[in-house]
Amino acid sequence: MPYVIKPETIDVIFETARIEEVVGDFINLKRRGVNMLGLCPFHNEKTPSFTVSPAKGIYKCFGCGKGGNSVNFIMEHEHFTYPEALRYLANKYSIEIEEEKPSAEQQEAMDEKESLFNLTAFAQKHFEETLHNTEEGKAVGLSYFKERDFTTETIKKFGLGYSLNAWDDFTSKALKHGYKKELLEKSSLVRTKDHQTYDAFRNRVTFPIHNLSGRVLGFGARILTQDKKKPKYINTAESDIYHKSKVLYGLFFAKSAIVREDNCYLTEGYTDVISLHQAGIENVIASSGTSLTVDQIKLIRRYTQNITLLFDGDAAGIKAAFRGIDMILEEGMNVRIVLFPEGEDPDSYARNYRPAEVKEFVEQHAADFISFKTNLLLQETQNDPIKKAALIKEIATSISQVPEPIARSLYVQKSSDLLQIEEKLLLAEINKQRRARAKGKGGDPGPQEEAEWISAPPETDTPQTPAGSNIEARERELIRILLTYYKRELLFVEEDENGKAYEVSWPVVDYLLEDFKDDDITMENPVHRIILEEMARAIESKTPLSEQHFFHHPDPQVSKLCIDLLSSPYVLSDKWEEKHGIFVKLEDNDLQKLVLEVLYAYKLEKVKKIIDVLEEKIKTPGEETDIIQVMTEIRSQKSTRERLAGALSRIVLQ
Ligand code: CTP
Ligand code: MN
Repeated sequence: MPYVIKPETIDVIFETARIEEVVGDFINLKRRGVNMLGLCPFHNEKTPSFTVSPAKGIYKCFGCGKGGNSVNFIMEHEHFTYPEALRYLANKYSIEIEEEKPSAEQQEAMDEKESLFNLTAFAQKHFEETLHNTEEGKAVGLSYFKERDFTTETIKKFGLGYSLNAWDDFTSKALKHGYKKELLEKSSLVRTKDHQTYDAFRNRVTFPIHNLSGRVLGFGARILTQDKKKPKYINTAESDIYHKSKVLYGLFFAKSAIVREDNCYLTEGYTDVISLHQAGIENVIASSGTSLTVDQIKLIRRYTQNITLLFDGDAAGIKAAFRGIDMILEEGMNVRIVLFPEGEDPDSYARNYRPAEVKEFVEQHAADFISFKTNLLLQETQNDPIKKAALIKEIATSISQVPEPIARSLYVQKSSDLLQIEEKLLLAEINKQRRARAKGKGGDPGPQEEAEWISAPPETDTPQTPAGSNIEARERELIRILLTYYKRELLFVEEDENGKAYEVSWPVVDYLLEDFKDDDITMENPVHRIILEEMARAIESKTPLSEQHFFHHPDPQVSKLCIDLLSSPYVLSDKWEEKHGIFVKLEDNDLQKLVLEVLYAYKLEKVKKIIDVLEEKIKTPGEETDIIQVMTEIRSQKSTRERLAGALSRIVLQ
C-alpha cells in the first residue's frame, strides 16, 4: 500500500513556500502597497484584481472570488491533487519529502481518487513488467513495438506495456496486493460478468495516459491482430480521475517543448505522438480516443497560443481538421494545419523519413487556415462561381469564430487577396454569420454585439454568495461569524430566582458551540464540521486558534474555505489593522443581532428539513413505520418551527 507524506514535511512545505514566489512563477505580479497585484489566471480580465498578500501567505481575486494559499494555488492552477501540489512545492524548494506508512485511519481517509491513482500506477507497473519480463510479453508485445520501430528508450519513456492473453492475470495480482474488488471495477481495468471478474485488457499492448504531473490516469490498449470484430483500442472508461475530454495524450512529456517552441503539434493517435517524439519532435500531443474538445484546447492554451494540426490527408482527417480549426479560432488561438500525403500519418511518415526530413516536411507544409481551406477547396471550385461562393462562405465561417477584431480584420485582408474578392463582401458575410450565431446563442443580435464579444464581464461568483443548499449557506455564514468574531463577547440578560435581572457574557465561540451541543446540532458540510471540531478542541484545551492556523491548514478544503470567508478587500488592503477595525465595527454594532439572526435562521432551516423528511415517511411508509409516532414527532417539530420563526422575527424587528 502507498506511503503518505509525513505531516512534518507538509509543515515545512507550508512554511517555506512563499505565496508571491509560487504565484510569481505563473503570473507577473506588481507591488501595490503591502500587497502584490496581477492578472487573474482563473478568469479573463484586463485590469488586475488578483491580489497576493505576502504577509498573510494567501491570494485572492476580487474579480472572480478565487482565493487560497500556495498549495491551493498550485492545485487550482495546475489541476493537481493535494499530494501532487505538495510534491511540486517540495521540488521547487528542494525540500526532502519524508513519507510514512499510513495509519489505518489515514488509509480510510485517503480519498477514492488517491486510491484510484494508486491502483492505476500499480497497473502501469504490472503491464510494463509483463512486457519486459515475461516470455509472452517479450515474444508478443515487445516484438510488436520493435516492429513499429519503437526503440527501447522510447518504450521505457512512455511506460508502454503488455497485458497477457489470460483472463485474470492482472485481476488476481491486484486482489492479492490488497486492492478491493469495488476499486478494481471503478478503475475499469477489471470487469464483472455473472459474478466473475476478469481483466479488461487481454492480449493487448498498453499505452499509459499521464496527467500533467506524470501520474497515470488510464490506458489505451491496442489489439495486435487485425480483427475487425474487436475494437482496435480499448480505453479506460471515465472515472473519478480520468476524464477523457480533459486529457491530452503526451502533454506531460510535451509541455516544456511546447513552451520552448511556442507551438503545439496536435495529432490523432498515440502512435503518432510516440513516433514524432522519437524523431526529435517533442512538442506533440494527441486527443486520445475522442475528437478534440474545448477543454483540451484550453489546456493547450496554458502553454502556447499556437496549435498546428497534423492530420491524415484522407477525408476523415480533413473533416476533423475543419472542425478543429473553428474550435481553436473560437478560443482566440492561432491554428495551422499540416495534411500528410494520402496513406501516410505522422507515425508512418516519421518511420519512413529521417528526423530532419520530418521536421522539414512539417515546417514547409504548415498552412494557416485560410490558405489551407482555400487551397483545398479551390482545387474543386476552379472557375465555378457557385462553388467559389460556397468557399467564401466557408472561409467566412472560420474567420467569424475569431473573437479578437484586429485578428479578424487581418484574416479578412489575407483571404481577400487569396480569393481575389473585395474585403467588403467578405466582411458582410462574416458579420451576417456572427449575428446569426449571436441570435442562436440568445445573445444580442444588434451592432452592439461586437462590444459584448470583447468585454464580456467575468463570471463572478462573489465569495459572499454561499453555495449549495439553504442550510449549507447558513452554516457557512455561521462559520464565517465564528472565524471572524470568535473571541468577541455577547451580552445576555437573565433573571435569577428572585426575578432580578443580571448580565452574563459569552464569547461568540462558546455561545454557539454550547448552543449546538444543547440542541444536538451537527453541521451538514464536512468541511464546516472539521472547523467546528477544531474550535471545540481548542476551547477545551485552552489553546488559542489563529487566522494563520486556518489559512495554512493542511486540509486544502479547510484553508480554501477560511480564506474565502475571511479575505475581504478590507482585510487584504494596505493598512489592514486600521481598516479591519472599521470594517468589523460596521457589523460589530449589531454583532449580537447578527449572531442570533443567523443562528435562528439556520435552526429553522434544519427543522424544516426534518419535517420534510418525516412527512415523506408518512406518504410512503415502510413496514416498520409507526405512523402515530411519526405524526407526534411532526407535531412537536412543527411547534419548534413556530417558536423559532417567532424568535427570528423578533430578532429581525428589533
Ligand atoms: N482510437 C480509439 N479507439 C478505436 C480506434 C482509435 O480510441 N477503436 C483512438 C486512439 O486514441 C488512437 C486514435 O484514435 O490512437 C487514432 O486512431 P488510429 O489512427 O486508428 O490509431 P493509431 O494510434 O494511429 O494506431 P496505428 O498507428 O497502430 O494504426
Ligand atoms: Mn496510426
